[in-house]
Amino acid sequence: MEEKKKVLYSAVQPTNNLTIGNYVGAIRNWVQLQSEYDCYYAIANMHAITVKQEPALLRQRTLELLALYIACGVDPEQCVLYVQSQVPCHAELAWVLNTITYVGEMERMTQFKDKSARHAENINMGLMDYPVLMAADILLYQADVVPVGLDQRQHLEITRDIAVRFNNRYSPTFTVPEGIYRKVGAKICDLQDPTKKMSKSGEDPNGAIFMGDDKDTILRKCKRAVTDSETEVRYDPDTKPGVSNLLSIYSVMTGKTMDESVREFAGKGYGDFKLAVGEAVADVLIPIQQEQKRLLADKAYLNGVLNRGAEAAFRTARKTLSKVYRKVGFYQGDK
Ligand code: TYM
Repeated sequence: MEEKKKVLYSAVQPTNNLTIGNYVGAIRNWVQLQSEYDCYYAIANMHAITVKQEPALLRQRTLELLALYIACGVDPEQCVLYVQSQVPCHAELAWVLNTITYVGEMERMTQFKDKSARHAENINMGLMDYPVLMAADILLYQADVVPVGLDQRQHLEITRDIAVRFNNRYSPTFTVPEGIYRKVGAKICDLQDPTKKMSKSGEDPNGAIFMGDDKDTILRKCKRAVTDSETEVRYDPDTKPGVSNLLSIYSVMTGKTMDESVREFAGKGYGDFKLAVGEAVADVLIPIQQEQKRLLADKAYLNGVLNRGAEAAFRTARKTLSKVYRKVGFYQGDK
């Protein structure tokens, strides 16, 4: 008999334009892991509305993100690809998990504090509850592993805490998931301020390379990237954050090891180095953009993927949810 694969869960929010940070920290790894695990990849649109979104744009970005997943190499025949809001179990489980999560814990979340500062006019309950919904996402599918960037580590830790807490309070119900963080690329930094993570919503648009940027823009942004006053291309994130960040990007985009990448630029100046980084990024992004465009022209195909995905996700999620409802004592008729 074929051995049952372990379950992998991950998601991206369909907000703004994705950056190469999202690609390197998440989607690229999904592709590498998809044959090894039973994979669920969601489009986290319920998380997205915790900050203000333009409804028409959110709808459009949902399909664009699906096309991007597939264009990056995520295989819809092998993985379950779906939209979070199409599986009602996520909101339902989040409600139950809310009752075993403490306000103080949520107030201490770094991302909540950051986003509250950035959106001071809109510190809504959903923003605070974001990690609980994320825990619900992961736990519904009994995920063993969750590949994410380092900025999500705290959310994954709280997911583990919530799972253990529920299991202890009721009885073993949830698999306690492990995060998968890659050594290189788990935190791609801003090109203008390499001490900060590259973000979809950063202040300086030159700090981020977006998945939709054309080649000229990519080359220009790399050329302008902040480095240091030395001349040596060397990996040392503490003293050379700018150069080290560019080296990480180069290494991931070319598939070369860090040692190989460093050796390649021995004796070369920053100008040549930045140009090579830009070329490497463009070589990966341009074909993805072309494929994404091709896929977006076939809406019927994309909708088919999402319909199948939502059904498959629902089948799994419902099993966990009804177990949870039984454990907490919700009356479920004569089922
Ligand atoms: P989002 O959309 O903010 O980020 C999506 C993924 O991209 C990673 N990431 C980065 N990785 C490396 N360097 C960066 N500069 C960088 N910026 C972003 C994030 O770590 C993430 O893996 N809350 C999640 C979405 C989500 C989710 C889930 C993830 C909802 N439910 C369940 C895993 C499991 C998020 O941060 O999305």
